[in-house]
Amino acid sequence: MKKKLVSLLTVSALTMAMLAGCGNAAADTATQTAETAETVADTATDVAETATEVAETVADAAPAGDLADKKVGVCIYQFADNFMTLFRNELESYLVSQGFSKDNITIVDGANDQATQTNQIQNFITQGVDVLIINPVNSSSAATITDLVVGANIPLVYINREPDADEEARWSSNGWNVTYVGCDARQSGTMQGEIIVDLGQETVDLNGDGKIQYVMVEGDPENVDAQYRTEFSVKALEDAGWTVDCLDDQVGNWDQATAQQLVANMLSAHPETEVVFCNNDAMALGALQSIEAAGRKVGEDIYLVGVDALTEALEDVIAGTMTGTVFNDHIAQSHGAADAAINYITGAGNEYYIGCDYVKVTTDNAQSVLDSLK
Ligand code: GAL
Ligand code: CA
Repeated sequence: MKKKLVSLLTVSALTMAMLAGCGNAAADTATQTAETAETVADTATDVAETATEVAETVADAAPAGDLADKKVGVCIYQFADNFMTLFRNELESYLVSQGFSKDNITIVDGANDQATQTNQIQNFITQGVDVLIINPVNSSSAATITDLVVGANIPLVYINREPDADEEARWSSNGWNVTYVGCDARQSGTMQGEIIVDLGQETVDLNGDGKIQYVMVEGDPENVDAQYRTEFSVKALEDAGWTVDCLDDQVGNWDQATAQQLVANMLSAHPETEVVFCNNDAMALGALQSIEAAGRKVGEDIYLVGVDALTEALEDVIAGTMTGTVFNDHIAQSHGAADAAINYITGAGNEYYIGCDYVKVTTDNAQSVLDSLK
């Protein structure tokens, strides 16, 4: 399993200058990195690497007997989230494959309410679980959550919603058994932008005015994934020397129906829209419904990108009804989280940050990504 230890210095340097896409005027003039040759071969390598990592992980795992009586508490921010549903299902089956008893794995739904989740954490502490895996409702509540869990002497693995740099710094400076397992959301935003850049400016600038007219549909604004994807997708266009024109930027809260409504309004107010950026695939699927309802055609008179590589989105990329997406590797992340939990239980311990890579998905490799997930 790939583990990247991010130094405290690096973490604190990652200040969150989170500007929404609109109003972020200054176009960077950095040279375009030659990333146009992202192909099936890369994906095959990535998928193979993941498979190898998983195989290594399986080999590393503690004998089943040691884990069968251990209790794991898992807090998910909201069950009604497509991506986190893939994540938690994979997490549960992998924990069982590693020797935990299904009866000792309890997964609870925070229903997108921090007070509910904090109660659930308190209940897990009272029950005396051996380890907690937490996908916080609000990343800004991480310090409170950490204090509760560390105070009860229970190791803690954060997933999906990364706590801020100050919070992560506390874990290492205190030597606490707390880690974060996830991907760097800046990479996913950059890849979204690169998918558009790789099409060429003449292709994307449909009205030929020398600017890219775009709209942005954001996830939960409290979530660093939403902040970074919004910022870095547009930055990739600017870094390629393109001029951007943000027509609208709205919060769709990761939700398909919300995004469908937002994009319907955006397209009727701004028919000149050339690119629709969505912070995740659920919202891109909603956007696609409105694009089609407006009589527009992706790949011909508009471009659309998401993140996650949900099955439906991959099918759209293959069909050409989505320009591209970015694979948010729920398999590597859930296995990494389970492995970290096991390492705490066995006393092996963990680094304070365990990273993984996103994979750019276009028509070139969507089928192979889909096949790798079957
Ligand atoms: C993101 C994912 C979104 C949503 C969110 C929840 O990484 O792309 O679809 O699941 O996490 O925090
Ligand atoms: Ca244009």
